[in-house]
Amino acid sequence: MADLSVTIAGIRSPNPFWLASAPPTNTGDQCARAFDHGWGGVVWKTIAHSHDEIVNLSSRFGAVRTAGGALAGINNLELISDRSMSDNLAELAALKRRYPHNTVVASIATGPREQWRELVQCAEQAGADGLELNFSCPHGMCERGQGSAVGQDLSAIATITGWVKEVATRPVFVKLTPNITDICDPARAAVAAGVDGLSLINTLKSIAGVDLQRLAPYPIVDGRSSNGGLAGATIKPVALFMLASLARDPAVTVPLSGIGGVSDWRDCAEFMLLGASTVQVCTAAMIGGYRIVRDMHEGLSDWMDEMGFATTAEVIGRAVPNFVPWGELNPDYRVVSHIAPDKCIGCQRCYPACRDGGHDAIRLPSPKSGGKPCSVRQDGVAHRIPEVDERRCVGCNLCSFVCPVPGCITMRETG
Ligand SMILES: Cc1cc2nc3c(=O)[nH]c(=O)nc-3n(C[C@H](O)[C@H](O)[C@H](O)COP(=O)(O)O)c2cc1C
Repeated sequence: MADLSVTIAGIRSPNPFWLASAPPTNTGDQCARAFDHGWGGVVWKTIAHSHDEIVNLSSRFGAVRTAGGALAGINNLELISDRSMSDNLAELAALKRRYPHNTVVASIATGPREQWRELVQCAEQAGADGLELNFSCPHGMCERGQGSAVGQDLSAIATITGWVKEVATRPVFVKLTPNITDICDPARAAVAAGVDGLSLINTLKSIAGVDLQRLAPYPIVDGRSSNGGLAGATIKPVALFMLASLARDPAVTVPLSGIGGVSDWRDCAEFMLLGASTVQVCTAAMIGGYRIVRDMHEGLSDWMDEMGFATTAEVIGRAVPNFVPWGELNPDYRVVSHIAPDKCIGCQRCYPACRDGGHDAIRLPSPKSGGKPCSVRQDGVAHRIPEVDERRCVGCNLCSFVCPVPGCITMRETG
């Protein structure tokens, strides 16, 4: 059986599955239940200093759905923890005492230097294994010069990280905002300031939608709204790209904790392959509950066995060498579409997709013009089987995406 334990910035965790700083890590009771379900670590919902006033709004979340109605993401207006610093830290201390082998990282955010120092020292006294500096919330906090306002300002990153590192004795992570042109810039600033690890990404600045009767964006707070932060499966591609960008940046010499749309064991494996030592989950646990971690254990462990990976160290970063600048890709490589006649159900979705959105490489043969005879389905209905003109096909993959039959349209290497 593969060994799922992992060490990140000197912190040992029984497995790489952590809950991100968010509603699922709001209280000690919640985190205890999460550990009982098998989560290796938690990053506590961001703790504010006792001098900071945190007042949350209602309503708070907006839904982002696919055309089929599935919940693809959640946009939120929530601030950092509105519970007192003393309650948070007392519960964190009790949690760490009860679960000494699980990882408890304290996410913290405040303003003035003295308050940062006090938060660091109090969180460490409470037993936090590490600290995560929230330089990344893109709503509510940034308006007061915190959250993503820090993460977008390289000198502020350096200054505040420096304040924290002056007093911290445990590993310090900076949590990065994706609301920036190049994620490598803030990452390098944090590394230069002495940070021990980076967590990414927080949410993307967004509007979930607009209510067509009330004429206000979601989520609606007394008839009006503001931009929120988008999270969940829909942000995974952005998170993977930013993670991989840091993993291949020689100036980023610290370990990475990957966040953003992680929903199942496959996502965990993908994040680890692109450089994440641990993966943090928020929205998927909000939707599916803490129990989703069981599938992560089983799935990742089975996959590692199948691939011959004995330890997480063998997985972390393994796909990074295959993520290269565009100019290093082989222009002579070619794939073309192949349609399996015995699997085609004659839905013809591939035909207009290729004609209007591709390179007009799919033909619908007509028996009258000497094309192949129609195929007859099991239900007796005749249909035409599309054919691929390999000279026109550029290998874009679009037809295979719109085809509803698994394995019917495959892309084949030529030459
Ligand atoms: C409702 C909500 C509240 C959040 N609160 C915090 C927070 O207090 N501190 C923080 O660092 N990140 C916060 N986040 C961001 C998450 O930790 C995480 O970075 C983000 O949701 C992306 O992960 P996901 O796609 O798994 O949800 C919050 C996210 C949501 C959805």
